Amino acid sequence: MVETTPRPYATGSGSPGAEPEHEMSRRRFLSRAIFAMAGFIGGVIGLPAVVHTISPALKGEQQSWIEVGNISGFQAGQPKKVDYVIYKADGWIEEPSGKSCWVVKKSDSQFVVYDPRCTHLGCPYSWHTDKNQFLCPCHNGVFDLEGNVISGPPPRALRRFANRVEGGKLLVREEVING
Ligand code: FES
Repeated sequence: MVETTPRPYATGSGSPGAEPEHEMSRRRFLSRAIFAMAGFIGGVIGLPAVVHTISPALKGEQQSWIEVGNISGFQAGQPKKVDYVIYKADGWIEEPSGKSCWVVKKSDSQFVVYDPRCTHLGCPYSWHTDKNQFLCPCHNGVFDLEGNVISGPPPRALRRFANRVEGGKLLVREEVING
């Protein structure tokens, strides 16, 4: 006859020698709580650092409104070239970049602002009061006051930038609004 020695085991554990179910649940709960806490702390501390690190790259070429002058400084029907500076973000460095545009005042509340680059190959054109035309010297492109092509190789009208009047100032954004 073989004698056996009874071993203690937890009721309901299913196998002799296994930990009690409530002990495992408590341990599982504690480890999950610690993981959750660590994740939360890591998020709180790390997220701002990550956002700060990658935000220059996310900003990209975001356009903003540029003040180009008092509306009283423009004469109705008389195009005026305006030079201004924008700051371009290159990573964490902001570089100044010289820009310009042609402004045509229609009224105190209505302006047309042209991209100063010819729509043929991008040369700078200029306004000729005697001819009442914009002339591009590179290949003799000619545009009227409305920016339409009169003659020469330009394939399309001058590009118009978004603009608005605010507090007596003309604001321009380098966003082409006519295609
Ligand atoms: S770039 Fe203006 S006509 Fe060619």
